[in-house]
Amino acid sequence: GGRVFSGIQPTGVPHLGNYLGALENWVSLQSQFPSVLYSIVDLHSITQPQDPALLRSNILDMAASLLACGIDPERAILFQQSQVSEHAELSWILGCLTTMPRLRHLPQWKMKSKQKKDGSVGLFTYPVLQAADILLYKSTHVPVGEDQVQHLELAQDLARIFNNHYGDLFPEPAALLSCTRKVKSLRDPSAKMSKSDPHTMATISITDSPDDIALKVRRAVTDFTSEVTFDPEARPGVSNLVTIHAAMARMGVEEAVAQAAGLDTGAYKRLVTEVVIQRMTPIREEIQRLRADPEHLEEVLSQGSCRARELAAPVLREVRQRVGFS
Ligand code: TYM
Repeated sequence: GGRVFSGIQPTGVPHLGNYLGALENWVSLQSQFPSVLYSIVDLHSITQPQDPALLRSNILDMAASLLACGIDPERAILFQQSQVSEHAELSWILGCLTTMPRLRHLPQWKMKSKQKKDGSVGLFTYPVLQAADILLYKSTHVPVGEDQVQHLELAQDLARIFNNHYGDLFPEPAALLSCTRKVKSLRDPSAKMSKSDPHTMATISITDSPDDIALKVRRAVTDFTSEVTFDPEARPGVSNLVTIHAAMARMGVEEAVAQAAGLDTGAYKRLVTEVVIQRMTPIREEIQRLRADPEHLEEVLSQGSCRARELAAPVLREVRQRVGFS
């Protein structure tokens, strides 16, 4: 048994961090669980200002990307969060079960509200909506990268709080971390690779051209030791390349380091470049193909949303009863 749920923001095309930290795992879970849902979380994305036309196009880019990475609508329900209004409704109810101090400590609010000074109410309650996404389907397993673990702990807390208040309803969802928990920025290996990084060289998108990939890897920040070793504490830059290499070539870190024997960092970067290009080229081409038919993508999303609504409606009905609305 068990049900898998996860979400990704429609930031356009995913980057290598999304792919290795989450999406690869999303794909393999489709054959391990009887029920799997993946959502393009557009409600979350408007916590930052969005141009409407660009948002629409980013949602379709993300849909094409997820399909190209191997999400199969026959095996997973792929849908757009805002098309299932139950998410917002459950979010309100869960928001009334948590406190401002509990949310204030979450890393994303701390970081983004500091950058912006005036964060929106939506940005503040973002993790509550994320908990609603998960609990709405009584999900048991949530594949995410390491940066989402604290958000998942809130979802676990809220499941417990709801159950204590209103009687057992929600299972406590468990995080599923992939082997590659965190891909680092190529410019600053102390930070995670992130779409919102202003530095274009920091992030490899899964649709980057071979030339772009080569350039970004060549410029990746390493150190003054030419030998390749894996030591994330002392040598975060080179170690990040080893992480990417190992994950892309589907091998262990030791094996990747062994392949680097005798290579200096420059030569090793050329090897990593080759491996990334090899893995990403078919995905890039498939995204281009799918993106040429937006009607098909719209159709996949609206069918997914229909199926998601069928699962969400009875759970929300039960929630309404427990709370005393009906
Ligand atoms: P988002 O859109 O930022 O990222 C999508 C997934 O990619 C993972 N990830 C990474 N993994 C490793 N290294 C990195 N550098 C890296 N960057 C991103 C994230 O951990 C995530 O798994 N709040 C979520 C979206 C969300 C969600 C949900 C997830 C909304 N509702 C319910 C799970 C369940 C987010 O912004 O992910």
